[in-house]
Amino acid sequence: MEKGKSSEWRRTAYCGEIRSEHGGQEVTLFGWVNRQRDMGNLVFIDLRDREGVVQVVVPSDNEEFLDKAKKVRMENVLAVKGIVKERERNARNPQLPTGDVEVVAKELKVLSASKVPPFVIADPPQASEELRFKYRYMDMRRPAMQRNIKLRHQAALGVRNYLSENGFLEIETPFLTKSTPEGARDYLVPSRTYKGRFYALPQSPQIFKQLLMIAGFDRYFQIVRCFRDEDFRADRQAEFTQIDIEMSFIERDEVFTLVEGMMASLFKLIGVKVTLPFPRFSYEESMERFGTDKPDLRSEMEIVDLTGIGASLASTLLKEALSAGGVLKGLAAAGQGSLSRNQLDKLNQKAKDLGAKGVVWIKREDGFKSSLKTEEKDLSLIWDKLGAQAGDLVLLVADEKAVALKVLGELRNEFVRNRVDNGKTFQFAWITDFPLFEWSEEEKRLVSMHHPFTSPHEADLDLLEKDPFKVRAKAYDLVLNGFEIGGGSIRIHNLELQKRIFEILGLSEKETRAKFGFFLDALTYGAPPHGGIALGFDRIVMLLAGEKSIRDVIPFPKTTSALCLLTGSPAEIAPKQLEELGLKKTKE
Ligand code: AMO
Repeated sequence: MEKGKSSEWRRTAYCGEIRSEHGGQEVTLFGWVNRQRDMGNLVFIDLRDREGVVQVVVPSDNEEFLDKAKKVRMENVLAVKGIVKERERNARNPQLPTGDVEVVAKELKVLSASKVPPFVIADPPQASEELRFKYRYMDMRRPAMQRNIKLRHQAALGVRNYLSENGFLEIETPFLTKSTPEGARDYLVPSRTYKGRFYALPQSPQIFKQLLMIAGFDRYFQIVRCFRDEDFRADRQAEFTQIDIEMSFIERDEVFTLVEGMMASLFKLIGVKVTLPFPRFSYEESMERFGTDKPDLRSEMEIVDLTGIGASLASTLLKEALSAGGVLKGLAAAGQGSLSRNQLDKLNQKAKDLGAKGVVWIKREDGFKSSLKTEEKDLSLIWDKLGAQAGDLVLLVADEKAVALKVLGELRNEFVRNRVDNGKTFQFAWITDFPLFEWSEEEKRLVSMHHPFTSPHEADLDLLEKDPFKVRAKAYDLVLNGFEIGGGSIRIHNLELQKRIFEILGLSEKETRAKFGFFLDALTYGAPPHGGIALGFDRIVMLLAGEKSIRDVIPFPKTTSALCLLTGSPAEIAPKQLEELGLKKTKE
């Protein structure tokens, strides 16, 4: 098979593919020098391509040839012709898939030289992320990156095949468009033709996919780039990829079944059999039991309400917190009893950073030890109520309910993350029935928890104006190992209800028309009942690859401060370009 060509030489195999069964065959390989070892009368070259590394031996019988091999440097690009030979038993390398063989070179060409690399190409990487991002094309030569990018391709292909087999059409939607309300800031693109006007890059194709349902396409998907100007973390990027899905004439459970099947087929790629169906928790239940809407269910630990016994305890601290209308929540953190004072102080600080007054701990060694000043019988009562075992750490927070749950929920997810073997267990869950609205402290107003096109539950329609925070949405998130990997909802397809939601969100009729007039018009021309979901493709690939950051599965990622260190963007633009766009800088 031909696998590439350089001058008259044609590649016959990838370096990483060569095995014992190729013994005796002549092969032509192209690749990069991973390492060169000069043994005097022999030269070993580890040659690397996207499939892996193979050892090339340059024998001593031709001095000129040997001299050439001695001059080969790291990251030079070589073409090698040679014969595959099984290694002597004691020279085999079980760490390497090609470790049973080597290629005895007959000819060698240096196709391209390389300067001394800015860092050694090896896993795990030793260089800083800054340096690696600046030379990302070198960093991507690492086997782990090659594997991740290949896995990303296989996952995208798997998604396309699965959805296509299920009757979905992949349809593109515009990037130069109007603001889409997903709650983050927009990236804006100035128009040259219409000075003073801007396109917005889509935060998601939400409105377009709904328009496609109105257009009758019925089952749509797209693997699509989305753009959000928000604060970045390990699982967030300015531009990221969604598997965006929308369906007409369906209920929530059909979305669940479809996505569960898709996840099962994706996780097969890494040899993992996913248990179906995924468990479901209402938002309220998830908050009560796990303190978060993104529970890491690789542990069964649960938060327990102790408010009922709070008043009977001798601690004045707890009594005061409870009499101020607070609750008492507890968590038995499995196996955390060995945390040091210093680590416990850090937990307390974390609780404070999250807005609580602090977190109280109880340990049981010879007797009880605790940061709470109270009687021994109280500690024993709490310990038993939480079902704590020897070696556990009990944590208590007495505070407003939302704060107490948030603190214990964050600590719980952190304990689970640190305790379990990453990349081995996968626990999915659906979180359902989110509140339709939430309070935005930043904007000092009510906002949609998902987006304003989310349908409320019919049973809660009467509460919309009266008690909006009690209204449940037909919205759902998909959670995996503590990460939100998807979110969606059944949509509003009725104009009057859509207008009512905009009104409750405080948008005047004029604003609504200016922003979404085209969409409201579309709702008047026969909008089918519809719903869908968008899955975070980068996060899914990250979890498939067993990585900790989505930056490790994105070929050209940005830093956490949204810089592209490779190209140096965002960059200044020429005064002429500014002028053409009708823009003026106000500040340097
Ligand atoms: P949502 O905003 O929940 O929903 O996004 C869907 C999924 O996309 C992923 N995600 C991100 N991944 C990386 N970096 C980011 N900055 C980022 N932001 C979101 C998450 C998330 O669950 N239009 C709706 C979907 C719908 O209602 O159908 C939407 O975009 O995994």
